[in-house]
Amino acid sequence: MSTSVQDQSWSPSSWQRREALQQPRYEDAQELAEATARLAELPPLVTSWEVLALKQALAEAQDGRRFLLQGGDCAESFADCSSPVISNRLKVLLQMSLVLVHGLKKPVLRVGRFAGQYAKPRSADTETRDGVTLPSFRGDVVNGPDFTPAARRADPQRLLRAHSHSALTMNFVRALIDGGFADLHHPEYWDLAWVEHSPLAAEYRHMVTGISDSLRFMETLAGSVAGFSKVDFFTSHEALLLHYEQALTRQVPRHEGWFNLSTHFPWIGMRTAALDGAHVEYFRGIRNPIAVKVGPSVTPDQLLPLIEALNPDDEPGRLTLIHRMGNAGVAKALPPLLEAVKREGRRVLWVADPMHGNTESTSNGFKTRRFDNIRGELDQAFDIHAAAGTRLGGVHLELTGENVTECLGGARDLSEADLQRAYKSMVDPRLNYEQSLELAMLIVRKSSATGH
Ligand code: PEP
Ligand code: CO
Repeated sequence: MSTSVQDQSWSPSSWQRREALQQPRYEDAQELAEATARLAELPPLVTSWEVLALKQALAEAQDGRRFLLQGGDCAESFADCSSPVISNRLKVLLQMSLVLVHGLKKPVLRVGRFAGQYAKPRSADTETRDGVTLPSFRGDVVNGPDFTPAARRADPQRLLRAHSHSALTMNFVRALIDGGFADLHHPEYWDLAWVEHSPLAAEYRHMVTGISDSLRFMETLAGSVAGFSKVDFFTSHEALLLHYEQALTRQVPRHEGWFNLSTHFPWIGMRTAALDGAHVEYFRGIRNPIAVKVGPSVTPDQLLPLIEALNPDDEPGRLTLIHRMGNAGVAKALPPLLEAVKREGRRVLWVADPMHGNTESTSNGFKTRRFDNIRGELDQAFDIHAAAGTRLGGVHLELTGENVTECLGGARDLSEADLQRAYKSMVDPRLNYEQSLELAMLIVRKSSATGH
């Protein structure tokens, strides 16, 4: 058991004594109290057994025996809690994981950014349009995106709706996983027309044939090897809205300590990772495996005390650091952090998020990311880790299984004009189905070249 759990000063609500950034202002304390009391009675979304199994698997990833693929929407929305959106997102993640398993020759740990990714940090508390100022949209768990006073009001009932939409998502994901996706086992059914547009077409075709052959071989064995069709899948979200997280923080009969049972793998966003802030206080006391986003302004002097606060005993699998530096900044910002963590002998899983440091606006007013920058940051991250003698153990991506046009470039070379066609994200631009699979293939290519 970790020190933090024995610490008498911690409780699921002790974060309330610290400064909590990025929280909405609820007008009616009584209404909030009633909603969180109800939430605290509802069944959890995951179990402590699953949470501990994931921690064990993340410990294996720290040792290089697994690779983490974490991905999904920037923000889920209640409206997108629908059968095709959920199944297409799961499908692209599973297909990417097969590409990675085949290419990296190690098991891939699959974690979705879903079933709870409903809260967003914002750069400003309010938004002004045509002289009217309203609270910013903070994600469907808080308020609505429409620019009206009613929609933008922080509504405690949304806490309960977020829980039920997470449960609906979770239920469908579990059913799909248990049932097995037919076209997962047959790459010839995958939607791979884009491959022909890539300069790497021949290499990709070769990869897909290799995956098909391996899957057929495994299916031949499946009669005798029990459990082949079962795939594990875990969930994650940014545990931003602490009233929600607190209500789903539970004790269970056969495990000590407190678990956040709203998700397997909560993370702290870049904007709320202050050592003395409410989020770090909350996270230090839960037993889940946890992650922290690390941006380019973080220095070794800030990172080391954060590691000490969140994982004082260097518990295996407990702490993942997701660096998101940007293609232009990673070469400068990352090496000092890797060196410091290595020097101090701290046990972490290093994961690259090549999305959040590469956001830009186009001349026609879209928030976008260039595929080349995403790929560039990932390529550099592999090289920087190799040079530092540390291990890049996974990737964290924003993607969707839909055929959206939000990120520029990729095999079909999407242009600024293409963004108008199918830009659907309410928040950050996501890789579409094709760009996601292409990136998985590029990861395999790069990691084989660096000998990871
Ligand atoms: C996110 O993951 O959507 C996000 C807001 O990231 P970060 O905290 O790294 O900016
Ligand atoms: Co995002």
